[in-house]
Amino acid sequence: MGLADATRQRFHVRLSTPDDFDGWRDAARGLAEAGVSPDAISWQVDGEDGELFAIGAAPPEAGASFAVPRDFVALAKAAICHSDPERFALLYRLLMKIRGNRRAMEDRADPLVDRLEKLAKEVRRDAHKMHAFVRFREVEGDHGKPRFVAFFEPDHHIVRREAGFFVRRFAGMHWSILTPELSIHWDGERVSEGPGATRADAPDGDPTEEAWKTYYANIFNPARVKVKAMLKEMPKKYWANMPETALVGELLAGAQAREAAMIERSAAMPAPPPSNADAAWAALRADAMRCTRCDLHRCATQTVFGEGPLDARIMFVGEQPGDQEDLAGRPFVGPAGELFDQALVTAGIDRRQTYVTNAVKHFKYIQRGPRRLHQSPNAGEIQHCRWWLEREREIVRPPLTVALGATAARSLFGKVMAVGANRGQPLSLSDGSEAWITVHPSYLLRLPDESARTLEHARFIDDLKRVRDRAEALVA
Ligand code: URA
Repeated sequence: MGLADATRQRFHVRLSTPDDFDGWRDAARGLAEAGVSPDAISWQVDGEDGELFAIGAAPPEAGASFAVPRDFVALAKAAICHSDPERFALLYRLLMKIRGNRRAMEDRADPLVDRLEKLAKEVRRDAHKMHAFVRFREVEGDHGKPRFVAFFEPDHHIVRREAGFFVRRFAGMHWSILTPELSIHWDGERVSEGPGATRADAPDGDPTEEAWKTYYANIFNPARVKVKAMLKEMPKKYWANMPETALVGELLAGAQAREAAMIERSAAMPAPPPSNADAAWAALRADAMRCTRCDLHRCATQTVFGEGPLDARIMFVGEQPGDQEDLAGRPFVGPAGELFDQALVTAGIDRRQTYVTNAVKHFKYIQRGPRRLHQSPNAGEIQHCRWWLEREREIVRPPLTVALGATAARSLFGKVMAVGANRGQPLSLSDGSEAWITVHPSYLLRLPDESARTLEHARFIDDLKRVRDRAEALVA
């Protein structure tokens, strides 16, 4: 078909599912290459109402070379899952703009870019809710192995997109997530799909439920009850899936009395800050869980926030979570964490008495086959994430902070600090507290030469011992 024919004709594109990115991409490529105007295309998802008798030719095939910026692909993959029926057409309009100007997406004032960014953001928010509010109930599965079943009602077509998250998180369990649009099942080896379901298809009530209720009652803090905010975060529509919400009325009813009792108790206590610090920290952590200050949140499983007692004398700051930390949601639990733990024991520091966090809270990686390979955060990412570290430091107020490696040092000091030149001596932070810089445990793991490894390991332990002595002296 010649270009002139294509620009005059109408085209009708049928997509196999509402989130059919591949189908959209293949059609859009061919149409864009032929210069077809957005107004000459109708998009329809199989099985959905639409232009029932839509007339139009199938889209032309795309040629071999059609490259678009990576940001566009990420945006399109998210926005296509939105329930807005115009999403396919909007994305095609943007694609056409990009064909004319590869930097078209950088114009944030462009209403088209803005609208698509909003769609993508709503999809990500829906995904976040799914991660947070899916509640499994245990039923007997095949061959006596328990199966965990949850019902969830997303606003957008996110279920296929999010299946990987649940596979990574619950790889060892057999589970099913039922939604009105489709069900997904994991049998420990592969994901399969089934038809949509209703809430009545999911089991109700079992010991898993009791565990959630106990957990929730324990974390419920009466001083933090803001009903509006709670409803925003935990919309009522999800409550029926969530065993702990059965407790909400009861907990809210008692909240005022319990808050008064809490205030009374804290007034009688010699050291007042802890409950405030606990609440401030929990609120900060909850905010960080939704962080989108930089792009790293897009691929990471979750924010990995700091942990440890809020009155810790020593705060350790690493670089960023690794693969295992990203899955577990806790800092320093992978191979570097193992080395770090052993070094702490050797140096006579109890990790449980320290606060451990990272300069950057999301895992940055590139996917290579099944492996996710660590990538160092760049200056912009460190700078964006500094905000969280600073708030954590304001709450914990550690007399001594240890930067593990150059990224942590850069974040703490707000500028490049060479590890070699600054190592092994007390340094002063802008809040007047003391900082020490040493190497990152991963550096020791990467050293190829055995004798260098032994030497550097001993230096690392020496640094930690000095930190231990110094922390004791500072609080004596
Ligand atoms: N490396 C880090 O810097 N932090 C972690 O939490 C894990 C590995």
